[in-house]
Amino acid sequence: MGRKFFVGGNWKCNGTGEEVKKIVSTLNAGEVPSTDVVEVVVSPPFVFLPLVKNTLRPDFHVAAQNCWVKKGGAFTGEISAEMLVNLDIPWVILGHSERRLLLNESNEFVGDKVAYALSKGLKVIACVGETLEQRESGSTMEVVAAQTRAIADKVSNWANVVLAYEPVWAIGTGKVATPAQAQEVHSELRNWFQANTSPEVAATIRIIYGGSVSGANCKELAAKPDVDGFLVGGASLKPEFIDIIKSAEVKKNC
Ligand code: PGA
Repeated sequence: MGRKFFVGGNWKCNGTGEEVKKIVSTLNAGEVPSTDVVEVVVSPPFVFLPLVKNTLRPDFHVAAQNCWVKKGGAFTGEISAEMLVNLDIPWVILGHSERRLLLNESNEFVGDKVAYALSKGLKVIACVGETLEQRESGSTMEVVAAQTRAIADKVSNWANVVLAYEPVWAIGTGKVATPAQAQEVHSELRNWFQANTSPEVAATIRIIYGGSVSGANCKELAAKPDVDGFLVGGASLKPEFIDIIKSAEVKKNC
């Protein structure tokens, strides 16, 4: 199969300098599988990126939680892809549902952001996912396909993209998708890539799950064939993030 397990920690808008140092020291002391088995990326708020980058163990990498849609300039409050590249920040999370819903980022805007960030050499964790209403009305696949399509319209090389399937109803709610629910959407997304991009992209793109992932539920989810890792919010601020990283070992027995 050859898709390396990927675990992202999305710290969102949390932390003081002291708390950030504490999380980094917990991560640095954690015993985790080697980089052949798992790729780990943590995403602190912008202001802590240099601190985390400079103190984090070298086998873990950092991601920004957003960036501007094009070249920097007169865009007060924004951070450009060029700035992230300049600071050697390798990854960026784009299209998180909190930004889509709270800041009205449209599918097209997210597609433009992904394309621009990739063109500058950043690697992208692109997020898609349906709301509870959309799930209940049976439109989950239509919604995530439209979100993915808006990216595919602007991007042809998916090598530097990890797709995070994050059902909105599962984010921060403690209401995790069942392994079967996650597998169903991941496998349908992979079929979507097969039909709309190429068999190679479908076979190689990592599709990770996010939404109330914890130390307690990660192994069962990781055992599903199309779950290639996780994007973790709340639990990424806690020592159990190490257990979630270790769930990569489950793939060895699959
Ligand atoms: P959660 O958040 O793990 O706290 O549900 C996941 C995310 O929003 O990436």
